[in-house]
Amino acid sequence: MVATTLESPRVETLAGSGIQLIPKEYVRPKDELVSITNIFEEEKSDEGPQVPTVDIADILSDDRAVREKCYERIKDAAVDWGVMHLVNHGISNELMDRVRVAGQAFFAEPIGEKEKYANDPGTGMIQGYGSKLANNASGQLEWEDYFFHLVYPEEKADLSIWPKKPQDYIPATREYAKELRGLATKLLSALSIGLGLEEGRLEKEVGGMEELILQMKINYYPKCPQPELALGVEAHTDVSALSFILHNMVPGLQLFYGGKWVTAKCVPDSIIVHIGDTLEILSNGKYKSILHRGLVNKEKVRISWAVFCEPPKEKIILKPLPETVTEAEPPLFPPRTFAQHMAHKLFRKSQEAIDDSKKVQPQEQNNAETDIPQPEEQQKTVESKPQKIEILKPGEEASTSP
Ligand SMILES: [Fe+2]
Repeated sequence: MVATTLESPRVETLAGSGIQLIPKEYVRPKDELVSITNIFEEEKSDEGPQVPTVDIADILSDDRAVREKCYERIKDAAVDWGVMHLVNHGISNELMDRVRVAGQAFFAEPIGEKEKYANDPGTGMIQGYGSKLANNASGQLEWEDYFFHLVYPEEKADLSIWPKKPQDYIPATREYAKELRGLATKLLSALSIGLGLEEGRLEKEVGGMEELILQMKINYYPKCPQPELALGVEAHTDVSALSFILHNMVPGLQLFYGGKWVTAKCVPDSIIVHIGDTLEILSNGKYKSILHRGLVNKEKVRISWAVFCEPPKEKIILKPLPETVTEAEPPLFPPRTFAQHMAHKLFRKSQEAIDDSKKVQPQEQNNAETDIPQPEEQQKTVESKPQKIEILKPGEEASTSP
């Protein structure tokens, strides 16, 4: 690890130190640099495909035909993009603003205050204030700090580790998590119907009210003196079932669509929704888990609030639902628990770093990266047991059942 990160592992400290050149650990590989451009200019451009905006005001309409049209729009976006700007989603602007104000106020605290909440992935404590540690052979780092914690179901959330300042942090975040859980159910219903399944099927398949967990990661991207060389978040797909993203209206998110990086616009009052790997697997690839990344800039701090809806780690075997599989469309994914799926991605990532295989296509390049902080122990386990991981090619049966 670099000396700068040893003394203070926070990117905010590094950014505030007055450096003009960023440490080499933050500089992306050459072939990736060619695609990193000015995010403000990108966001202004209307050229090329755009992330769909989906209005879900009618999702609970009493008129069945109206409701089904709304379901159809959600399905189309999930099939084509796997990501969308949701508008008229039913969560008030006031509540979203409270969440934003609370997170901003936490990050506005002095570093010393925030360090009281520091996580410790080395001991498995992944919740709390943190920064990415160099955990692979390439030692590549991201230009961000974060705060990560489980927010739902409430009985699984440890409020004692949530920020105590500002005072509204806990009430605003609890309320927001509850609202998002309701929204997740509505979207899962629409997506179930979109696959020709019963309305409650996907909700059940990802663990239902008891087992589906919501984890929030507040991403804090300081101003970067060389934004053309760094990334806030490496290219990856989300492992979740669904991810919900709020941000402070500073652009940064890019999606890899049609062979190109497309910049997401800042759509007022919207929530960005990602289909994650979990739904991609259950739908046998009909819903896409899109590759995405985060750019940084020189002028403005960007903050985003990501909430990942995840199935239980061990209790459920994720595999394409029988209704999504035919002779013509064989299973694209082998059966794996959520934990095994994450381990598989991490294993592939560490292999890629070791192989230094930089010549692969962008969609293959870094999609093993995960948004979710990982205990260091897990990383070691993954590396020491590669024989348990296998990739199923289309048409093949899994040789082992986990
Ligand atoms: Fe993500």
